[in-house]
Amino acid sequence: MQATPAATAAQLHTWCGREVDFLAAAPGRINLIGEHVDYQGGLVLPAAIDLSVFAAAARLDEPVIRLHTSFPGADEVVIPLAALASQSGPAAWANYPIGVLACYQQAGHATGGLAIAFDASLPAGAGLSSSAAFEAATAVIIEQALGIRLPARDRALLCQQAEHRYAGVPCGIMDQLAVNAGQAGHALLIDCQSLEVSPTPVPDSVAMVVVDSGVKHALADGEYAKRRADCEAAAQTLGVRCLREASPEMVISAQTQLGERIFRRARHVVTEVERTRKFAAALAEHHLEEAARLMAASHASLRDDFEVSCDELNTLVEIANGMGIRGSRMMGGGFGGSTIQLVPVADAPAIATAIEHAAGGRGLRVSAFPVTAAAAAAPVAL
Ligand code: GLA
Repeated sequence: MQATPAATAAQLHTWCGREVDFLAAAPGRINLIGEHVDYQGGLVLPAAIDLSVFAAAARLDEPVIRLHTSFPGADEVVIPLAALASQSGPAAWANYPIGVLACYQQAGHATGGLAIAFDASLPAGAGLSSSAAFEAATAVIIEQALGIRLPARDRALLCQQAEHRYAGVPCGIMDQLAVNAGQAGHALLIDCQSLEVSPTPVPDSVAMVVVDSGVKHALADGEYAKRRADCEAAAQTLGVRCLREASPEMVISAQTQLGERIFRRARHVVTEVERTRKFAAALAEHHLEEAARLMAASHASLRDDFEVSCDELNTLVEIANGMGIRGSRMMGGGFGGSTIQLVPVADAPAIATAIEHAAGGRGLRVSAFPVTAAAAAAPVAL
């Protein structure tokens, strides 16, 4: 059955016999450009998308949180309210909602007992931030239960804290801000140092096509933490708080002190910040060829300097390039997940089908689909 808010409310009822009190929807995100720069205070350009995680909740008299998903093999999880803070473990799905409940509780926003059922139209593990969507859906339920509404930025920071402390992923702020500040029809230029968000219209003439490689290499999380550490080492050598404060010239003149690997990591970050700035201007002026050129350069930098791509993602970008699509690059943390393509809107369905077919011919079972820029996580009217 298609995941919808109404179907999630029905799931809640079937599972625990309760009528829904609160309903929420939280989108996934794509990122047009600005990859692996958010944790260095850089500029990113993501958009919330029209695929979501849904949460349906009922108040409980008992002081417990009960969690349920429709995902195959995921058992119900029950945690006493008093034990929320101390719960953490391997990054199973329940750690995301538990982490958000715990972080809200510690910030003085403690709920009473709740039963929460989750379902999703957003695929998990595709690099579309289903974790941030899970977190945001939980946060919106908590805020409804308490009758409060936190600003997007505060909610994003609490969700990020939950991901750091309860899922063990030292992520930046991009995903949580994108899903909590998204606007229909717009990408968001986010300054990850000031956390200022500037919505930028996505021209009607272009479509964003996601290609989910279907792979996620096991080293992804460990390598993410290593890249962060490399960037921090580079910033320290350059004497700046974060690489956002360094220029390409500074990095080039410190090449010897940085050493070969750290130099390439730093070069990726400082050039990606420049590319993102130029891309946002190109998009605003509808210079789509320039935008495509910058996406191609971003992919090359992530592949060669930052070394977070993988064979499958490189093959998918080659396939898109071979079809005349220059605006194609790996997206998100890397080592699997998806690529993103910017294509003429009228061609999007045919391009998606052609990419799936061509990828099949190279031994990859991928799923390609257009997405549109959507609104932020929010309550759904009952
Ligand atoms: C993941 C993280 C983000 C960001 C991207 C790479 O999606 O959650 O914070 O660092 O990788 O741009």
